[in-house]
Amino acid sequence: MNQDELKTQVGQAALQFVVPGEIVGVGTGSTVNKFIDALASMKDQIKGAVSSSEASTARLKALGIAVFDSNEVAELAVYIDGADEINALGHMVKGGGAALTREKIVAAQSKMFVCIADESKLVSVLGTFPLPVEVIPMASTRIMSQFAKMGGQAQIRLKDGKPWVTDNGQHILDVKGLQIQDPVAFESQVSQWPGVITVGVFAHQKAQVCLLGTSEGVKTLKF
Ligand code: 5RP
Repeated sequence: MNQDELKTQVGQAALQFVVPGEIVGVGTGSTVNKFIDALASMKDQIKGAVSSSEASTARLKALGIAVFDSNEVAELAVYIDGADEINALGHMVKGGGAALTREKIVAAQSKMFVCIADESKLVSVLGTFPLPVEVIPMASTRIMSQFAKMGGQAQIRLKDGKPWVTDNGQHILDVKGLQIQDPVAFESQVSQWPGVITVGVFAHQKAQVCLLGTSEGVKTLKF
């Protein structure tokens, strides 16, 4: 089975966590796109979705699924999203699709985070995937040198030679060379640096469940 088929498989499998009659939290990325496509089959059984990006909002609406502002919803039963890396405790690196800030907001308002990922995303130590960090542009240089002191090499993410601009109008740093041994402490520390909007370590908002797509079928990991 190729990676695309593994993503389709976990996108379908995530439907079992969608609570009929409720609003579901929806993440961002190619795996979540498979979930959104599958969710269309249940659209008459749910009230709608809270979305973590303009891209997911557009896809949901195109399929006739209502999208609510996160401020309209006190709490969500479940949030379904992908990851760039996930470890054996459910801690993740996210933000490859630049949606990490809104993803962390929707994850924080959800009782359960269900991560959907193919088996290539399961790692023992987070940090091989360059860590995304959304920043206020005027703080970029200072934050890059703070990462350098930790042994990381940060670069501003570019699109067509210009800084990538997020849905929130800010920039993304991608940091290579980190070995994140204590994700909870790392997330707490970096989140306090002036100018950091969101660090792509999701340890405080970790997954409770991971549906992992493997060639032997979907494995359910519980944390
Ligand atoms: C977007 C994300 C995605 O969940 C992450 O990048 C995984 O994406 P994909 O399913 O395309 O591999 O964090 O900001």
